[in-house]
Amino acid sequence: MKNLDKYVEENKDRFIEELIELLKIPSVSADPSYKKDVLKTAEAVKNALKEAGCDSVEICETPGYPIVFGEKIIDKELPTVLVYGHYDVQPADPVELWDSPPFEPVIKNTKVHPEGAIFARGACDDKGQMYMHVKALEYMTKTGSLPCNVKFMIEGEEEVGSESLGWFIERNKEKLANDVILISDTGMIAKDTPSITTGLRGLSYVEVELTGPNRDLHSGLYGGAVANPINVLTKMIASLTDENNHITIPGFYDKVEELSTEEREKMAEAPFSLEKYKEALDIEAVYGEKGYSTNERNSIRPTLDVNGIWGGYTGEGAKTVIASKAFAKISMRLVPNQDWQEITELFKKQFESIAPKGTKVKVKPHHGGQAYVTPIDTVEYQAASNAYKESFGKEPIPQRSGGSIPIVSLFEKQLKSKTILMGFGLDSDAIHSPNEHFGIWNYLKGIKTIPLFYKHFTEMTKK
Ligand code: BES
Ligand code: MN
Ligand code: MN
Repeated sequence: MKNLDKYVEENKDRFIEELIELLKIPSVSADPSYKKDVLKTAEAVKNALKEAGCDSVEICETPGYPIVFGEKIIDKELPTVLVYGHYDVQPADPVELWDSPPFEPVIKNTKVHPEGAIFARGACDDKGQMYMHVKALEYMTKTGSLPCNVKFMIEGEEEVGSESLGWFIERNKEKLANDVILISDTGMIAKDTPSITTGLRGLSYVEVELTGPNRDLHSGLYGGAVANPINVLTKMIASLTDENNHITIPGFYDKVEELSTEEREKMAEAPFSLEKYKEALDIEAVYGEKGYSTNERNSIRPTLDVNGIWGGYTGEGAKTVIASKAFAKISMRLVPNQDWQEITELFKKQFESIAPKGTKVKVKPHHGGQAYVTPIDTVEYQAASNAYKESFGKEPIPQRSGGSIPIVSLFEKQLKSKTILMGFGLDSDAIHSPNEHFGIWNYLKGIKTIPLFYKHFTEMTKK
């Protein structure tokens, strides 16, 4: 693919401008007050796909936010790549911790990104990474180098559990038929260390409510004599892990796959500096399950984390009160073979059983999904590996990620094709956090690498 790097370099200012325009629309799927903006973003993605060379693009209605579907079919005999991404973003809060407004993108240099990075909510997750694919398509159509068929499926509910996507896939298997699914919604080890994500964790997300007395009470008149829901809830949560940071829910680990020593040794070869890791987070020590390394703790091991906890008085000054209720949002990251619905049930059973007399407990499941792991001795992985070799001059390292894209395991089940996770984000890009950003180098490198996947995949699978 000659002229690929040249095309990207010549058009980079426009590529950056276009992404900035997309980032200005606050497509927060979790908050209904942004509904208009979420829909406007779908419209913008539709137009971008049309301009990039799709023959047909449609906005497909679902029970939730619409899915943008576009395609360019050049020859039914050729393989088809299905690109998946999401145009919705996480809420920007806490907004006061951003150095610049989350939906007014600015370019700033950082230590990791001396070439500049675009700061905005969604810059990396996933508008920037999704848009790399749109621009890669533009390059291929404008230069007549698209080697195969392509379909795009860009959804607007990834950050809230992808509920409508399952519904959509179920009803559109024919339309979505493909030979490989290509996703850029993960990360890479470092700019000089390309990697391909070979695993994602599953997820079970629940909310708990603990009720004590029927009203808030004076903490002097009643303190010590009735269960304080906040005291009790924190005790209950604390009991869910033991002194080795092992989860105590009965049956929780029953299906967890133990990796062989060989596999763990192979994993440990990936470059990683614990010192730098601690430094970046300003912590003196890491913390986690006994017997596992940091990289194992955040990829091949399941976890239980409180994401939010509230109740009682949190305003100015002091108020002496025993609240009637306490709440928490809890997520469990799961690994292959753990079934998220089964784990949700195990959690519920355990949590209900440890609530002391005099309290009432409610466990409300939110959403979840299965974990994912893929072998590397497949033609799909090899094609991706070849693309990285050509683009980076280095073989990519297979790496299991700790994050979740619950829909990936469903793709494999429903559409019977393999998924390739070509992420270009860095851990330091602060996705879901204040000051999220995406390196301009990474953005352009993605656009320069994606067409090479199309090329190698077509060459390796063409009949
Ligand atoms: N793109 C992320 C997932 C991700 C990021 C995977 C980096 C690997 C590396 C995705 O948008 C996300 O945030 N997923 C959620 C789950 C979803 C059900 C809300 C997550 O992992 O918390
Ligand atoms: Mn994402
Ligand atoms: Mn996300």
